[in-house]
Amino acid sequence: MILCANFKANKTRQDTRAYMAVVESFVSANGIGDTIIVFPPFTALEHDPRNVLIGVQNAYPVQNGAYTGEIALEQLEEFGIKTILIGHSERRHIIGETQEQITAKFRFFAEHGFAIVYCVGEPLAVREEGNDILMAYIEQQFEGIDLTYSDLIVAYEPVWAIGTGLTPSNSDIELVHSALRSKTDAPLLYGGSVKVDNASTIMALDNVDGILVGSASLSANDFCEMIAQATELQ
Ligand code: PGA
Repeated sequence: MILCANFKANKTRQDTRAYMAVVESFVSANGIGDTIIVFPPFTALEHDPRNVLIGVQNAYPVQNGAYTGEIALEQLEEFGIKTILIGHSERRHIIGETQEQITAKFRFFAEHGFAIVYCVGEPLAVREEGNDILMAYIEQQFEGIDLTYSDLIVAYEPVWAIGTGLTPSNSDIELVHSALRSKTDAPLLYGGSVKVDNASTIMALDNVDGILVGSASLSANDFCEMIAQATELQ
């Protein structure tokens, strides 16, 4: 299983240190073999080698240069970061990233050998139009994306499920994941209102290889509990 914690714009550097100490000691004390990735804000990046991977929630697809307010490859290399989240719905819908920009980012970080957690997912209005329209919408989010990239992880995150407490039914998750499975061999994560109460059930679904957790991952104890649930499923 792959379990990801996406902090978004939450936690200070100090909070993140305390959090990582809890999760890292849990992972080593319990000999956890699952892949655990934490995406803290840029200000909380650290150098140290860890038994928990650290990724970034975003970066600009250049080595360095005149891109005010952005973080580029050079800054990530300083921290040994080799994992990035691309295509998250908050970047698509709040920041306004286009598929073209997302594709450029994907190509650049794939060329530099990053592990890429690539997010797709439909707004509620699309879901209400039925499965064919839903899959056609997701198909567009794969435009320009190399689904055979060896370090790819795909996360299915319905926009309407993120941060809302709503989740699709288990059979709806399985339906989308089986359609995704027919497109790629990459591990498939589900994200959107995953919490301690539903994580185990979701991780046990067909073609679900892990979870991408936002709000519920902000508690180190809750995130560790989800890691423990993943271990129990194996
Ligand atoms: P949520 O966020 O768990 O708070 O719904 C998930 C995500 O945006 O990755």
